[in-house]
Amino acid sequence: MTMNPVIDVHLFAEHAARALRADVRAGLGSPPKSLPPKWLYDARGSELFEEITALPEYYPTRAEREILRARVDSIAAITGARTLVELGSGSSEKTRLLLDALRRHGTLETFVPFDVSESALREAASALTGDYPDIAVHGVVGDFTEHLALLPAAPARMVVFLGGTIGNLYPDERAKFLRSVRETLRPGEWLLLGTDLVKDPGTLRRAYDDEQGVTAEFNRNVLRVLNRELGADFDVASFAHVARWNGADEWIEMRLRAGRASEVWIPAIDLRVELAEGEDILTEISAKFRRERVSAELADAGFDLLHWWTDEADRFALSVSRAAS
Ligand code: SAH
Ligand code: AVI
Repeated sequence: MTMNPVIDVHLFAEHAARALRADVRAGLGSPPKSLPPKWLYDARGSELFEEITALPEYYPTRAEREILRARVDSIAAITGARTLVELGSGSSEKTRLLLDALRRHGTLETFVPFDVSESALREAASALTGDYPDIAVHGVVGDFTEHLALLPAAPARMVVFLGGTIGNLYPDERAKFLRSVRETLRPGEWLLLGTDLVKDPGTLRRAYDDEQGVTAEFNRNVLRVLNRELGADFDVASFAHVARWNGADEWIEMRLRAGRASEVWIPAIDLRVELAEGEDILTEISAKFRRERVSAELADAGFDLLHWWTDEADRFALSVSRAAS
């Protein structure tokens, strides 16, 4: 008999529709224009992100997988986790390495993938339920910056946040997010965090502006989301993808640059947006880290960093932290 995964959607669809309207009004209603990156991930956006992870220029996924391969058995032995909670889980592909190790270790009972993208979550949860019939899969659709309280109560938890997605939050959002993860955990429970590291700007820019143009499509997709969900009339193809390294803040900025002056009408929020030729909409930051910063931010949030592992080429880091008492 095939078991179906449990998926909690709560009132998320309604909440998301309201949140999108508020974010678009706040982000496009006045300059400098911006949109929060979570709206990149409708079904198409999630598929495009998966394509990005296989691009030759996009090293973070391969680097993190290399670290996981080398360390998952240690992680299982150190944490003895019975419940694995994954925030921003997407396809949960790399997470299978952890699920396998925790299973070998004999502790894993429940996997809780948590993502804003219902399509990605459903697809991953169904595949995992088939492949791990002895583990309860309990998916949650939500926003990890707001809805961690929706996580089901469970014993001996390890929260994993992979891919460097923490870098898509601004520093103040990051501090708030880490504190809310800490508040969700009991002392002694665990956080496994993936962070992309500062490196030469050329490598970084190439990772966010690939030759095949997949990242450009991923970026433009947010305008398709606005056209579909809010009835907007963005001429998507007229926007250029821009990936810029901001050396002062040590983050990549992904922008959409208007190819011509235009006026966009967004009926669902009764907003007329004027765009000058060459004007940018900032759609994502992707912060790159140094060990001292990660360690200090974790300490500020109430975590003790116990292990810091990088790939051979020092491109990416995985850290294991324990919720302090
Ligand atoms: N963890 C996977 C996927 C990373 S892509 C990996 O390492 O490859 C980022 C994921 O986070 C996407 O699946 C996206 O839908 C999700 N996400 C982005 N913002 C989110 C938010 N605010 N709340 C919950 N999920 C979010
Ligand atoms: C999900 N996140 C960590 C990706 C990143 O690298 O910041 C999203 C992405 N944006 C462009 N390419 C990939």
